[in-house]
Amino acid sequence: MQAEFWHERWAANQIGFHQQQANPLLQQFWPELAVGKDGRVLVPLCGKSLDLVWLAEQGHKVLGVELSEKAVQAFFSEQHIEPVISQLGAFKVYGCAGIELWCGDFFALRAEDVAGCTALYDRAALIALPPAMRERYVAHLASVLPAECQGLLITLDYDQAKIDGPPFSVPDEEVQRLMAEGWKLDILQTSDVLKGSVKFEQRGVERLEERVYRLVRR
Ligand SMILES: C[S@@+](CC[C@H](N)C(=O)[O-])C[C@H]1O[C@@H](n2cnc3c(N)ncnc32)[C@H](O)[C@@H]1O
Repeated sequence: MQAEFWHERWAANQIGFHQQQANPLLQQFWPELAVGKDGRVLVPLCGKSLDLVWLAEQGHKVLGVELSEKAVQAFFSEQHIEPVISQLGAFKVYGCAGIELWCGDFFALRAEDVAGCTALYDRAALIALPPAMRERYVAHLASVLPAECQGLLITLDYDQAKIDGPPFSVPDEEVQRLMAEGWKLDILQTSDVLKGSVKFEQRGVERLEERVYRLVRR
């Protein structure tokens, strides 16, 4: 998925991935991670997700990374917050107390940028990327995140032959192949989410599983 794809999605407001409330799985499973309140949470490919707000409400400092400036601006305007804007290397940083959204390419993030992050939250980031980019994404996370880091990852698993991504199917075998070397992985929940997923049902998808992983860096 090239940058242009996402800019066009945001320009056309084709953002079916955006949820009108904080993700229920985040709310259910985040407490199991026991991330210290003062820990900063990295949210790659964050869109204008309300999960950023929920994480900040838990007392965390939040660092979201998002390509689309339209998304970043929409986040702050919808939260009725006037952000402070600055330039930090390749990123235009929009910040307020507790939440910084770094507008730019996730792959330009450097280790010093995320040195203070003790946690990672990935909902619709890994699964937003096609296979080769998923490999790059996981490798980049491993190369920049500090050793003491844990996280929550939410994936989808379905028959990719029936429908193109994004969101892409990332079955457990692939998560294990990509991440098991760098992270201890625990599946916290696998749920059948096909019912009511109209787009998938219409395309004849017969199995749609959403999986939640706890990640702890090795
Ligand atoms: C499927 S959306 C998910 C957004 C968010 N995680 C959520 O749950 O609503 C993926 C987002 O990643 C952004 N994105 C894609 N590639 C990116 C990159 N290389 N660097 C930063 N953001 C990127 C897109 O603009 C899009 O907003």
